[in-house]
Amino acid sequence: MTTPADARLDDSAFLAAARGEKPSHTPVWFMRQAGRSLPEYLKLREGVGMLESCMDADLVTEITLQPVRRYGVDAAIFFSDIVLPLRAVGLDLDIVPGIGPVVASPVRTLADVAAIADLTPEHVPFITRAVQQLTAELGGTPLIGFAGAPFTVASYLVEGGPSKEHAKTKAMMFGAPDVWDALMRKIAGIAEGYLRVQVEAGASAVQLFDSWAGALTPTDYQQHVMPHSARVLAAAGKLGVPRIHFGVGTTNLLSLMGEAGADVVGIDWRTPLAEGIARVGDRAVQGNLDPTLVFAPTDVMTSRAAEIIEAGRAAKGHVFNLGHGVIPSTDPGQLKALTEFVQAYPLKGPV
Ligand code: CP3
Repeated sequence: MTTPADARLDDSAFLAAARGEKPSHTPVWFMRQAGRSLPEYLKLREGVGMLESCMDADLVTEITLQPVRRYGVDAAIFFSDIVLPLRAVGLDLDIVPGIGPVVASPVRTLADVAAIADLTPEHVPFITRAVQQLTAELGGTPLIGFAGAPFTVASYLVEGGPSKEHAKTKAMMFGAPDVWDALMRKIAGIAEGYLRVQVEAGASAVQLFDSWAGALTPTDYQQHVMPHSARVLAAAGKLGVPRIHFGVGTTNLLSLMGEAGADVVGIDWRTPLAEGIARVGDRAVQGNLDPTLVFAPTDVMTSRAAEIIEAGRAAKGHVFNLGHGVIPSTDPGQLKALTEFVQAYPLKGPV
């Protein structure tokens, strides 16, 4: 799988930067580009539940393509959610509008963990179909597959919904290591299977979202979480695609998140990119414009983007992105202006 299925992918600036090779321009895509900030998305989603839409291959294909058409970004992100594979294996959970993932019976015991099925391709035929349709449509634009990392997914399962402190999750981690270990292994296996389905169907890169890992100290991350994320990243690495590893508030974890097996480390906007690059060492980086800068005047937004591109020259590779997902009230016109600005920014010249 080291050769892209479509030869046009050979020219992809995104794949070049992710592999630490020299791209023609700084590639750009946006986390959460396929979603609520687009009116054409909102129209398609009228009366269709979030997870329901994720299970409809034609809807997934169309929603994934919408931001590519509108912005001309250098990569597509597969429209799904980090909790979708759990629903696919039979867990009673939903994504409640304005709240996020809600789990009917939170996972607390070894028996609860044992009751969760392992993921097989038969659980997600709609994913295989959607990825195949997408890669055919996308041609030279790579598709990024993704999964939730074990800690972040565990947080939803143990808390039963979104949480600020992740207190019950960390209580399990500190107080019930056997249950914690079983749960992390279970989720890692599901993430591994979910990424394999996406890559085997044609995704050219993967991103592992450990959005809430920043709640952990480096020591706790290293002992209780990193081995499980490393297993998922190692499995994706065997499939021959570049791996992006991202979390929020992870300044102190960046080197460990790289060591976990990432080709590209995602940096949120709180860490100056230069500092992030120093922390991840000889790996590519992704990031990291403050997502609220799209609400500033266009020239303010683009001058901050220029600073980030300049800082990115010191990295092994740099994929431009926001420092977290697109905020739903974002004006798509600003993202279009930002995309054009980043792609036109000259990369030649002395570093
Ligand atoms: O464009 C994309 O990035 C592709 C699709 C995508 C979604 N979720 C769609 C979605 C991706 C990559 C995700 C990942 C995801 N889901 C993460 C990691 C990324 C991050 O932001 O840190 C997390 C933590 C989740 C869990 C989740 N799902 C939350 C917290 C929410 C928001 C709740 C809300 O409505 O405010 C969701 C819902 C969700 N996932 C939406 C979309 C488009 C909105 C639901 C809707 O449109 O009805």
